[in-house]
Amino acid sequence: MNHQAWSYENALKFAREKLSHASTDQAAHHEAKLEAELLLCHVLHCQRATLYTWPERELTPQQAEQFFEFVERRQNGEPLAYITEQREFWGLNLKVSPATLIPRADTETLVEAALEKIHDLPCAKVLDLGSGSGAIILAITSERADGEFHAVDLSAAALAIAQHNAQHLGLNVHFFQGSWFEPVHANQYDLIVSNPPYIEDLDPHLQQGDLRFEPPTALSSGRDGLDDLRLIIHQAWLHLHHQAWLVVEHGYNQAEAVAALFKQQGYQAIELRRDLSGQARVTMGQKP
Ligand SMILES: C[S@@+](CC[C@H](N)C(=O)[O-])C[C@H]1O[C@@H](n2cnc3c(N)ncnc32)[C@H](O)[C@@H]1O
Repeated sequence: MNHQAWSYENALKFAREKLSHASTDQAAHHEAKLEAELLLCHVLHCQRATLYTWPERELTPQQAEQFFEFVERRQNGEPLAYITEQREFWGLNLKVSPATLIPRADTETLVEAALEKIHDLPCAKVLDLGSGSGAIILAITSERADGEFHAVDLSAAALAIAQHNAQHLGLNVHFFQGSWFEPVHANQYDLIVSNPPYIEDLDPHLQQGDLRFEPPTALSSGRDGLDDLRLIIHQAWLHLHHQAWLVVEHGYNQAEAVAALFKQQGYQAIELRRDLSGQARVTMGQKP
């Protein structure tokens, strides 16, 4: 296959057919077309428009080989973001790796809520627990002129990616390795945010789709998925200033249980936010 000359147009057509899995579904075709384009752009380091401006241009043998390898990986279910090693979040281009969760668009709901809570505080001190690629803390930092921004993750490999992202974006965040509050035990904050693991250990979705490729330590959290949320909601109390906020992401079916944990701890003004598809996604509360 790689011995023949491949024009952009033919390479795209070939990849589209491979990636649509012979589906007759229009949405699957559309998705396959987009993914084929993104993979080819990744190989060629070009914009999508280039592919259609010069459809007759040919790939070098090395480019063709790399492109077909990427298509095969995608065909085997590997998430596009891990193949291209990047993902856009809050308008920021972030590097991701198999050590980091792939940031989800739904998590922008948490960023929005968090920014609202510190809107009137010019120099807020903010902590992101379980920062992964750094998506949340970098999005928040990118919107703020001043402040002190801290992030913790257990995974050294994830932290290295987050640090790379911060440097690349020119954003000033202090990263700490350790378990939840352990590396920042002496600190108090105006805002603590977290998108912790919250999937039930035995949830069959863990064996499906993109989740199969993501780090298990980023995903599951005990029998009911709430082990980490319980700990964070409880311990954040000791690390929040008066009037400060805790904002957490959780599963669509965990809102009631999470609100109960907030209430039990003594938080006030407990509020729920829904994501773009209307699912309960973020709960927040204030330390009186
Ligand atoms: C669901 S991911 C969220 C990643 C990122 N904040 C985002 O929204 O894309 C959860 C993160 O928590 C980290 N994590 C898991 N257990 C942890 C612990 N005990 N202490 C600190 N971080 C932990 C994982 O390494 C992972 O990066």
